[in-house]
Amino acid sequence: MLQRVAGALRGVNQSSSVDPLRRALVLGAAGAALAQLNACGGGHDNMMGWAIAPPLIDPYAGTNTQQPLPIIPMDQGLDDGSGGRTFSLVAQRGSAQLLSGVTTNTLGYNGAVLGPALRLRTGQQTTIRVQNNIGESTTAHWHGLVVPTEADGGPHQAIAPGATWQASFTVANPASTCWYHPHPHGATGRQVVSGLAGLLIVDDPAVPAAALPGTWGVDDLALVLQDKRFTASGQIDYTLRAEEQLTGYMGDRLLVNGAFGPVWQAPRQWVRLRLLNGCNARTLTLRLGNAAPMLQVANEGGLLAAPVTRASLVLAPGERAEVLVDFGALASGEEIRLYAATVAGGMGFGMGMGTGAGSVASEITALKIRASLPRQPNAMASPPGSLPAAPSVAPGAGAIIRSFNLDGGMMGSPFTINAKGFDINRIDFAVPANTVEVWRFFNMTGMAHPMHVHGVRMSLLSRDAAAPAVYERGLRDTFIVDSMQTVAVAVQTPAAASSTPLMLHCHILEHEDAGMMTQFISV
Ligand code: C2O
Ligand code: CU
Ligand code: CU
Repeated sequence: MLQRVAGALRGVNQSSSVDPLRRALVLGAAGAALAQLNACGGGHDNMMGWAIAPPLIDPYAGTNTQQPLPIIPMDQGLDDGSGGRTFSLVAQRGSAQLLSGVTTNTLGYNGAVLGPALRLRTGQQTTIRVQNNIGESTTAHWHGLVVPTEADGGPHQAIAPGATWQASFTVANPASTCWYHPHPHGATGRQVVSGLAGLLIVDDPAVPAAALPGTWGVDDLALVLQDKRFTASGQIDYTLRAEEQLTGYMGDRLLVNGAFGPVWQAPRQWVRLRLLNGCNARTLTLRLGNAAPMLQVANEGGLLAAPVTRASLVLAPGERAEVLVDFGALASGEEIRLYAATVAGGMGFGMGMGTGAGSVASEITALKIRASLPRQPNAMASPPGSLPAAPSVAPGAGAIIRSFNLDGGMMGSPFTINAKGFDINRIDFAVPANTVEVWRFFNMTGMAHPMHVHGVRMSLLSRDAAAPAVYERGLRDTFIVDSMQTVAVAVQTPAAASSTPLMLHCHILEHEDAGMMTQFISV
């Protein structure tokens, strides 16, 4: 089936292939974009000569006192009396020790920084109440959830300072790790980097609880990875540098669950890691020390059909992965490291971003894992051979094809989609409700963009002419489109017609805030 779809798409690609003149123009544009990057490189040049992400600081290189890894608190919600669940979030100001011994002003949900992991259940009626106490307008968007458009929490569902907003929906997603974050147009990057982000853990009654490690914080560990830059006085520095208009915000410290250089006490057994790249702009390559393999069991949309062995994985901003790792053979107290690196250039120009094949630069230790706890009584004996995969979306013959060109970024101009910057008062297109379309994203710019669509079910169909790697299949909500690459996805449009717009945007938050976003309604 997948083969047939991929074949069909190769046909699509050919029938509407870019003519040689346009191709040359496009390459010229990319070249100019790179020259532009080169000109404003500000000293962050790699050997190829164009601006790259500034290197990350290794937290363990100095004399840092090591802090314990904060475990993201889990919130089961309250029984609403009729089989549903109700959750309450308060977006608030606070202060926290993100850097050991330094107090930083932050934003958080129900706490100083980040937010609880809301435990949702497939098929369950769910209400999430959000109180805005941050003193400026915000929204709360459920990234990855397929919910009615009015419950999406995008830029159209602004919550005024002091106000409360409520989203009600029945959870339609299969078992997965999704997340929530603010989405006020023009201020998303600043609010997220200030600390507003949390996880949505979807459990599906159809997936047996014993299928995967599931003791929260013990053998089921959520890791939220986010880079930040700090001022001399230890405050979060969100002054964008000239080159960051192009690259997006690049902090030099990578925090894990809101801590810089933490240590996690792990049990000596199989463990499940739920990884979120919550960076504004930095694409991360993650690997474990000791050449320990990671068995990837899920991507953004949910479980894969079977675990896939990965030596490393590439996560773009907004992307998630769940992996199984085995600490069973470690000696008591033995240490293993989770390394993170920025994909070389961060520009992805012909560097295989999205395929995981890109070379990496400035690798640092994100997290020290100390195997200090004994094997737990309910430890998973061995990884499952197969999994109840999230159902993917497949287009029928004659499906509507839409094209999105990722463009702009020339001479300091913002990146755009189909040559237009975002206008909240302009509906860019309308899709028929409850149908499957094919959307083709062609990246004409000199850098990779992680594209994200709200409120739809989506599956990758192809990267250029190639079928997606196994770990890229299933359901997706965010995917990298490399420079000069065409990515085709099957999109199942919203179930019902709605005049409330949904967003399609680049998840480099500075690109999004600068207008690399488009909106659609369903009819
Ligand atoms: Cu994660 Cu439109 O957002
Ligand atoms: Cu989203
Ligand atoms: Cu972008």
